[in-house]
Amino acid sequence: MTKYFVASVIPFSQTTAKELLNIYGSPLYVYQLDRLLETIDLITNSIPYPQTKFQFASVTNGNVALLKVFKNKGWGIHANTPGDIHLALAAGFMPDRIVYSGSNLDRVEMRQMLTWGIDAINLDSLSQLETLIDVYSRDEYPKPKLGLRLNFPPLTGASRIGVHPDEFDRANEIARRAGLTIAGLHFYRGTGTNATQAFVDAIETILSLAARLRDLAYLDFGGGFGYPYHHEKVAFDWGEFGRILSDKLARCDRPIALTIEPGRAAIAGSAVLLARVVATKWQGEKQMIGVDTTVANLSVPSVHGGYREIISWQNSDELFTTDVCGNTTYSRDYLGRNCQLPRLNIDDIIAIQDVGAYGYAMSSHFLHRPRPAEVLLAKDSHRLIRGREDYRVLLNNQIFEEDRS
Ligand SMILES: Cc1ncc(COP(=O)(O)O)c(C=O)c1O
Repeated sequence: MTKYFVASVIPFSQTTAKELLNIYGSPLYVYQLDRLLETIDLITNSIPYPQTKFQFASVTNGNVALLKVFKNKGWGIHANTPGDIHLALAAGFMPDRIVYSGSNLDRVEMRQMLTWGIDAINLDSLSQLETLIDVYSRDEYPKPKLGLRLNFPPLTGASRIGVHPDEFDRANEIARRAGLTIAGLHFYRGTGTNATQAFVDAIETILSLAARLRDLAYLDFGGGFGYPYHHEKVAFDWGEFGRILSDKLARCDRPIALTIEPGRAAIAGSAVLLARVVATKWQGEKQMIGVDTTVANLSVPSVHGGYREIISWQNSDELFTTDVCGNTTYSRDYLGRNCQLPRLNIDDIIAIQDVGAYGYAMSSHFLHRPRPAEVLLAKDSHRLIRGREDYRVLLNNQIFEEDRS
């Protein structure tokens, strides 16, 4: 069994946390380079199938410095939107290292996608395919490699995404009109499953559905690989998944290239959000901690559900049930509820763990608090990889009466 690398209880020392906050301010996203590299290696090495490429799903994290880490490890990018492609190009990825698997592009975006000449375009509906073929036929573009996202409720659930296998023949026909083929099938197994077996069980069915595409050349397993936010609970077993998938692909009657698009699994565990305690109070037995960050800086847990472990560096045998509250009065502004934490005081530091995926990427200006900075921490060094915002950002693109006179 390949053990998933799970964040240890304390990611780095209190001295380091203090030093980082003193230099870069609070709150602060801190990415640990070693942990990221280890995770990338673990995933890469878990799939022995020779024709495999890995595409990091940058929907989870679009920091260009981090995208470069994936690039240096030989990964490409999975783009959910043209914006993902824009970021990938800025990080230095060649277009042929970018795969698009998204939904609902307009004609202008399709034109842009074709002009970029990316490696593959996996489409979500016959309607999108029709539009793409129409756009393609009207101008000169590099020949695109086309795939379909799969919608097959026994595997994909009641997803809004994808094309049903009954529509494959029609898709082939549409592509053929422009001298193209449908070369790939893309499968997305829901969000964040740690149940390896659920993935493994799907492989046979996907292969048999894929065989219905006459010109099949690649299979794309796109995201949904879980990360164990509850550290003590079951983790996705990359080793088992990779072994079984490789074995089954090797036995296919034609060569099939494999694309794997991990999102959260690749980066969630590499980052913490550091924050300082700014207020304390007790409600009965419960410790209520006010910190200098908010769910708008990290929207996932209390707004979208989910759990992130929160730690502090205070040494104490006595733990208290604690709510960690953000610095607004928004009723859902909890960074954590019913955490077990020692007695905390003003200026103590907390770390919200596993925020590398859908953390900064989903932060917003809701509640009008500027976003934190982001820092990359290596063994003996650290550097700023995104500056802290200030109040000026709240006025961006706003138009004042006097500007019109
Ligand atoms: C096609 C595709 N691949 C990968 C991902 C990343 O998903 P996850 O973080 O669940 O792995 C997404 C998320 O939207 C996606 O749509």
